[in-house]
Amino acid sequence: MPDLQAIIDEIHSTLRPRLGEGKVADYIPQLAKVDPHQFGISIATVDGEIFSAGDAATSFSIQSISKVFMLTLALGKIGEQVWARVGREPSGTAFNSIVQLEHEHGIPRNPFINAGAIAVSDIVLAGHQPREAIGEFLRFMRYLADDDTISIDDAVARSEGQTGYRNFALANFMRGFGNLHHPVEHVLGVYFHQCALAMSCSQLAKAGLFLANRGSQAHSGHTVVSPKRARRINALMLTCGHYDGSGDFAYHVGLPGKSGVGGGILAVAPGIGSIAVWSPGLNPVGTSAIGAQALEMLTAKTGWSVFEAG
Ligand code: DON
Repeated sequence: MPDLQAIIDEIHSTLRPRLGEGKVADYIPQLAKVDPHQFGISIATVDGEIFSAGDAATSFSIQSISKVFMLTLALGKIGEQVWARVGREPSGTAFNSIVQLEHEHGIPRNPFINAGAIAVSDIVLAGHQPREAIGEFLRFMRYLADDDTISIDDAVARSEGQTGYRNFALANFMRGFGNLHHPVEHVLGVYFHQCALAMSCSQLAKAGLFLANRGSQAHSGHTVVSPKRARRINALMLTCGHYDGSGDFAYHVGLPGKSGVGGGILAVAPGIGSIAVWSPGLNPVGTSAIGAQALEMLTAKTGWSVFEAG
């Protein structure tokens, strides 16, 4: 194993002068208030070690990264039936795009665009009140990260609820096609709260580690999902994790990843570890500009890639 602490310290000091690049998500007013001059990185290895640099202990809004974990819960509930409600193809469109939904009869292209994630939230909501589904998600994240201090930022959830016009449009559209089974307000209540989960890089790296560890938690050995399911979630992260920027991310970073408009990215190096980076300034496809740069530097320095034997 390379000297990961030295590598991330170097990445941190190289990128520090560039902090503030990109544009903070301002369509969610509460996120517009975040200081863009922050950057954190954590690597959790399958051997149980954790390496961190910069603002790795600062909590941020995980936003769309939550979609990976909600998909994991939905697959646990109804298995492959998820794919009757959501596709598995890259969309080539923005995260909040509505154009494909009409052509494809209310079946979103994949579980990581907003429409797909809203359908996944509807699946997790089945048989529950919204607050129970949100509670289930929160408990799952605390369990994965082995940290009961993780919580939801209610101000961010409210802020999204007040300005989430496009998400209401997507949800109403799907409800019209019969692909949402619960009231739009309930489903979006779940969706906005999952997106508003606040985590630090070190907590997020630990939570995502099962995806690098054949579906099992590294610290306890407990199975979260089967190795096959972990592989498949990784495949979706690689092909769909960054919307219309997924090809570029695969080209430059070469690992499955999922971005969020809070500026976080979770990346998975199968068999090695999981990496969480965070810096709030976004590129035009809604991925952290400095975060993606940090991951590209990390994979260049370590040689980690799903496209090359280790
Ligand atoms: O629904 C939204 O627009 C946000 N809660 C999540 C969007 C997001 O994070 C897109 N990812 N890069």
